[in-house]
Amino acid sequence: MDARQLADRFEEQYGSGEGEVRFFHAPGRVNLIGEHIDYNGGYVLPAALEFGTTLLIRPRSDRMLRLSSTNFPYPLTVAVDETADAKTGEWTDYPVGVVVELAKSGRELSRGYDILVHGDIPNGAGLSSSASLEVAVAYALLTLEGHPIDRTDIAQLSQRAENRFAGVNCGIMDQFAVANGKRDHAILLMCDTLEFKHVPFRTEGYKLVIGNTNKRRGLFDSKYNERRAQCDEAVRELRQAFPELELLAQLDAARYEANKHLIRDETVRKRAAHVIAENGRVLQSVEALQRHDLERFGQLMIASHESLRDLYEVSCEELDVMVEEALRIEGTAGSRMTGAGFGGCTVSLVKESAVPRFIEHVGEAYQRRTGLAAEFYVCSVGDGVKEQDCGDKLAAEGE
Ligand code: GLA
Repeated sequence: MDARQLADRFEEQYGSGEGEVRFFHAPGRVNLIGEHIDYNGGYVLPAALEFGTTLLIRPRSDRMLRLSSTNFPYPLTVAVDETADAKTGEWTDYPVGVVVELAKSGRELSRGYDILVHGDIPNGAGLSSSASLEVAVAYALLTLEGHPIDRTDIAQLSQRAENRFAGVNCGIMDQFAVANGKRDHAILLMCDTLEFKHVPFRTEGYKLVIGNTNKRRGLFDSKYNERRAQCDEAVRELRQAFPELELLAQLDAARYEANKHLIRDETVRKRAAHVIAENGRVLQSVEALQRHDLERFGQLMIASHESLRDLYEVSCEELDVMVEEALRIEGTAGSRMTGAGFGGCTVSLVKESAVPRFIEHVGEAYQRRTGLAAEFYVCSVGDGVKEQDCGDKLAAEGE
């Protein structure tokens, strides 16, 4: 839907009303490397995508909040002062969760708002459609309420909204990437301290291709939370040697190797081995990207996938088949599952000239082997959340 159609839809939904309708956009994200590292306090390397959530908002003169979406049914009308009790189990829990977290941090809304959201991120694909929605709402409300914008604060309060409402004890990576993305740059984020830097993601001659397995993520919440608990167990046992240890990724590979025998359970040791090695791969990836050595970066992506498959055990047959078929194509530098796993998407770095062949071959082989139809998105890296100036465009169209 373009700006004009969205503006019409807003008016249909809420009437002409007084005051200006403002537009905001928050992207989805893809994680390039550093999987299941954020909650272990190490390095991750996500990037913002160009597709995402568009949000239209207009203040009201009363204290009612009205929320609707072009993607989902169940619009919600709730008094600003009653949002804490407005959990419904529907998509509106995310924006409502953000309003509740704003209030908890002393930023109660001063008035009501009409909000319409439109997303073009495939849902449930592990490309952070929920983080995108949360961050769009947080950024728009802070802007209209006249509060200062601190992108790290926006990421943290959106994460709290997600933890509280979605039942997945997710880390900070997704909301951080959506808030802090920058066109043609990846984000090197240290998840323990939240220090970060933008790393130029120059892929001349190559394209980032996201492959959606369209596999539903079964039992995702419980398996995600189980992995977190196993990492905590590894930390507890390693404290025999490092009493100060709080998070697994605080250990470097040498100290881990010398002390891994302290972890008694073999499964837990495998989980820890993934975290330690994957954390190292992120910094190696940044070095490779800085040298513009995309083949080396591709090799690190492949190693990441193997580790997630064999050690962390969060891949699934569909993701493995898609990666395997991707690597058969001459011109694929690297390919891996991205996001939490158990379904969702792969990300591949593919020579531009090989992209059509890649999509045709991987799509066909994937369908033959799994019975599912894949989808592919050839992506560019976009900006983080921002206000969009649609006024001029709409005025010009109206003339
Ligand atoms: C999900 C979570 C993130 C992160 C990834 C795995 O996307 O929301 O916080 O843990 O899984 O890297």
